[in-house]
Amino acid sequence: MTTTTNPTTTPAAGAATGPVLVLGGTGTTGRRVAQRLREAGRDVRIASRAGRPPFQWADPATWGPILDGASAAYVAHAPDLAAPGAPDVVTAFAREAVRRGVGRLVLLSGRGEEEARRAEDQVRRVAPGTVVVRASFFMQDFDEKFLVEQVRAGHVRLPVAAVREPFVDAEDVAAVAAAALTDPRHTGATYEVSGPELLTFAQALALVSAATGREVAFTRVPVAQYRRELDGQGVPPDVVDLLTYLFTEVLDGRGERLSRGVQDALGREPGSFADYARRAAATGAWNR
Ligand SMILES: NC(=O)c1ccc[n+]([C@@H]2O[C@H](COP(=O)([O-])OP(=O)(O)OC[C@H]3O[C@@H](n4cnc5c(N)ncnc54)[C@H](OP(=O)(O)O)[C@@H]3O)[C@@H](O)[C@H]2O)c1
Repeated sequence: MTTTTNPTTTPAAGAATGPVLVLGGTGTTGRRVAQRLREAGRDVRIASRAGRPPFQWADPATWGPILDGASAAYVAHAPDLAAPGAPDVVTAFAREAVRRGVGRLVLLSGRGEEEARRAEDQVRRVAPGTVVVRASFFMQDFDEKFLVEQVRAGHVRLPVAAVREPFVDAEDVAAVAAAALTDPRHTGATYEVSGPELLTFAQALALVSAATGREVAFTRVPVAQYRRELDGQGVPPDVVDLLTYLFTEVLDGRGERLSRGVQDALGREPGSFADYARRAAATGAWNR
């Protein structure tokens, strides 16, 4: 059992009827969380740098205006909860949220990331009822995030061995988060969410190829070469470091196991990579 459910007492009393704040509400998980909340009839407040008022992780002066009056908050840090300094920033944000009466926090975290675990622990010290949704790599990394251009070009090059990862559908991550934001039965729970099968990147790309009818090859490249290629594409140095960390340390085999967070939180099975690939192909996301 990789999901631990640890309900605690009621979180800080807050504006129980206020809008649900969705940080990163225009991103991969946030916009899906927001959509599910709206479909459930909830008032939603999106926060991002492009929002009005703008929200910026690095500028605490922007936190108060988006927190005031919110009943709950979905906390997805950008670019990553394991990025340098992120645990302390997210903890300071959680402290401010509690101080302003936000009654429920749902924190998006990453499986196998030590710094992310430190962030979870720190946030829970200031907001004990926080629900943690600890996710494996997203399937949507292939069509919305850092792999999309390489998939379109028909050749993915990564410094990853034949390690298997249980890619999770961001739709499932969002469904768990939306449930946790609205149902007090989830208070204090940790949901480790993964997809239903372990796949290497090459196997995942074979499913993408089957869905698109166009072959996408996979090549393992040495770490130094991968870094040089990212540098050459003008990727900022901190993002190069983050991607190298994810594809070497986090994908060192420690994540080769399934988790049951989707089943435990929602009482249903998680979506498969093949289903995701068919959906993504139908949107045209991988067309050149
Ligand atoms: N990708 C994966 O496989 C994976 C797996 C497990 C966990 N995670 C976690 O997922 C989290 C990211 O969530 P996501 O993938 O749903 O988001 P995302 O698609 O990366 O989008 C980022 C969101 O945050 C906003 N944003 C970016 N920089 C910001 C800043 N400096 N201040 C305020 N807002 C900012 C963006 O909007 P603006 O551009 O308008 O600001 C956008 O709404 C990370 O913490 C990561 O650890 C990812």
